Amino acid sequence: MKIFLDTANREQIKKWTETGLIDGVTTNPTLLSKEDSNTKKVLLDICSMVNGPVSIEVVEKDPDAVYKQAKEISNFAKNVVVKIPCMPEYFPTIHKLVCDGVKINVTLVFTEIQALLVAKLGVTFISPFVGRWDDIGKDGVDFVENIVTIKQNYGFKSEILAASIRNVYQWQRLAYAGVDIITVPAEVIEKAIKHPLSTQGVEAFDKDWKKLNKKSLFE
Ligand code: E4P
Repeated sequence: MKIFLDTANREQIKKWTETGLIDGVTTNPTLLSKEDSNTKKVLLDICSMVNGPVSIEVVEKDPDAVYKQAKEISNFAKNVVVKIPCMPEYFPTIHKLVCDGVKINVTLVFTEIQALLVAKLGVTFISPFVGRWDDIGKDGVDFVENIVTIKQNYGFKSEILAASIRNVYQWQRLAYAGVDIITVPAEVIEKAIKHPLSTQGVEAFDKDWKKLNKKSLFE
């Protein structure tokens, strides 16, 4: 499973890329709105910090303007993937961009059939949103499991990038489902790594080691 960091925060990206766990980053306008107002600099920094794809979302609305902006974004850095919302008016644009060789991440996917249709276009990533379904009382992981099955049934090449992740339990179930990629906020990675028994174990070993009263392990 590839792990992307769902943030536009450079401190978080620095901290977590140093662990060797991070295969890419996803940003969106909301995440960018929390950072420095020099968006160009923020995005340039992120692209240079990450050894893997960085998703940057279009902010234009009109399909022709989206096409033009997608081209600009794709030329911004070598590792950029253009994020475009799953809206009917953008399907011809996405098709044209895929034919031009632009890497696309279709975002805001909320149904299995939306995912199937987007997969037919040959996009690089499909981003089904898990947490936003859970927020309104439907099991978001279930729907991603169905998308994984659809991908296998028809041999679609697009990678399934599970997004809108709120907790470690969703992550665990998505791993069982065999989703290709997950994009997670830094807080969720932190929680996934920490365990009270690991901490207690370290404390107990330390206490016992100190009983030996030695300066080093091989003394
Ligand atoms: C992913 O690409 C999206 O930016 C992100 O996962 C959205 O998550 P949210 O539902 O927490 O806003």
